Amino acid sequence: MPKPIYVLNGPNLNLLGKRQPEIYGHETLADVERDCVALARELGHGIRFLQSNWEGQIVDWIHEARDQGSGVVINPAALTHTSVAVLDALNAFEGPVIEVHISNVHKRESFRRHSYVSLRADGVIAGLGTEGYRLALRRVASLLAAAG
Ligand code: DQA
Repeated sequence: MPKPIYVLNGPNLNLLGKRQPEIYGHETLADVERDCVALARELGHGIRFLQSNWEGQIVDWIHEARDQGSGVVINPAALTHTSVAVLDALNAFEGPVIEVHISNVHKRESFRRHSYVSLRADGVIAGLGTEGYRLALRRVASLLAAAG
């Protein structure tokens, strides 16, 4: 069985669909998970889809992915803009990493324009809604295929 792609979600994304729907839309995280599982299957991959409000838990899952994961799709949410710990953990992960933001962080408050995670990410998707997760999965799959 090939190693799964880790799809990691940071703080407050458990409220997706209920929280600021004018910014983040009406889909829930369970909807996003269902679509990601279906697409991953089509692409011939498994996924481990996870969410936590705790920075240390996200760091621990990135560590787990070092041995048990093939790639990482991450929406670090607010940790994007604050967390050197998440960046350091991703720097210790060797596979492809794509950063996703549902909203266009460049069109919002200026503090959202800086991302620690972008210093490591192989690509960044912002403002494409929850479709960004599926595009990120496709990109991780193609990077894994290219790496053989
Ligand atoms: C977000 C953007 C972040 O600035 C914010 O803190 C989030 C969600 C997005 O998906 O658009 O919680 O990562």
